[in-house]
Amino acid sequence: MMRGPARAVHAACAADKRCSSLAGALDALGEIKALDPVAGPVGRAVRGLPLGPVRDVLRGRWLGHPLHPVLVQMPIGSWTSAAVLDAVPGAQRGANLLVAVGTVAAVPAVFAGWVDWADQYPHQQRTGLVHAVSNALAVGLYAGSWTARARGRQCLGRALGFAGLTAASVGGLIGGHLAYRQSAGPNKAEPVPHLLKPGWYALGRPEEYPEGQGVREVLGDEVPVLVVREAGGEVRVLAERCSHLSGPLSQGEIAEGCVTCPWHGSVFRLSDGWNVRGPATAPQPSFETRLREDGVLEVRLPEAG
Ligand code: FES
Repeated sequence: MMRGPARAVHAACAADKRCSSLAGALDALGEIKALDPVAGPVGRAVRGLPLGPVRDVLRGRWLGHPLHPVLVQMPIGSWTSAAVLDAVPGAQRGANLLVAVGTVAAVPAVFAGWVDWADQYPHQQRTGLVHAVSNALAVGLYAGSWTARARGRQCLGRALGFAGLTAASVGGLIGGHLAYRQSAGPNKAEPVPHLLKPGWYALGRPEEYPEGQGVREVLGDEVPVLVVREAGGEVRVLAERCSHLSGPLSQGEIAEGCVTCPWHGSVFRLSDGWNVRGPATAPQPSFETRLREDGVLEVRLPEAG
């Protein structure tokens, strides 16, 4: 028979197993290959939309991180507040207004989400599709709630609102899993400064690098960099893994002072790593260079360590 601390540990283990089951169920969404026949054509359709510069606005390039998580604050906040007011006698008008505000505010959030989703890995897209279905259900239920309230059917409007909030909460749970567990939105180049010790690292001699072509080198044990010798002799060095989804920039096209990622077409300026075009919302870490007395090129990342 278990006593004291042993029983407490056992209870903690059992609780942790339950948590793992939930995470496992969410992980399993990314393995539903039956969604691929939907994801493929929808992804191509979204990527083919003639959005022009609006696409990068929706991606959040101007903001420095994805716009979608910012835009969802408005519908979630409005709908949650409406649910609170629905439970307060005499607060119907406020609840009705918040349901309408949340439903309208969901529209740009949906667009931004689809634009992000279209460039993701297959397992992320599968999870993202389930996330989108939950949220589409939420928007539909809230649109019904708004209509019912406008027709004076307050009880039905409340019931649809609570059902919509449930669907939105499930969608939010899946969206959190997609963002944090499956790493759909973060800057993939962020760890680079933390993987390097401060100081200078030796590469080759500048003349060893072919002009106008990207060359992959590795600093320390695990930080790949892109080295490009430009026509004027200047050598540019950027982190090699794309900040979007870790695409290999050394296999990208070099032209007009920029490198284009071969995976989804993000464009980075060689001189400072700035992300000129998305889907990357963050720049590439850019290395300082100097020549040693023996003609060997050295690089360092000022923010390393
Ligand atoms: S990995 Fe997507 S643009 Fe580079």
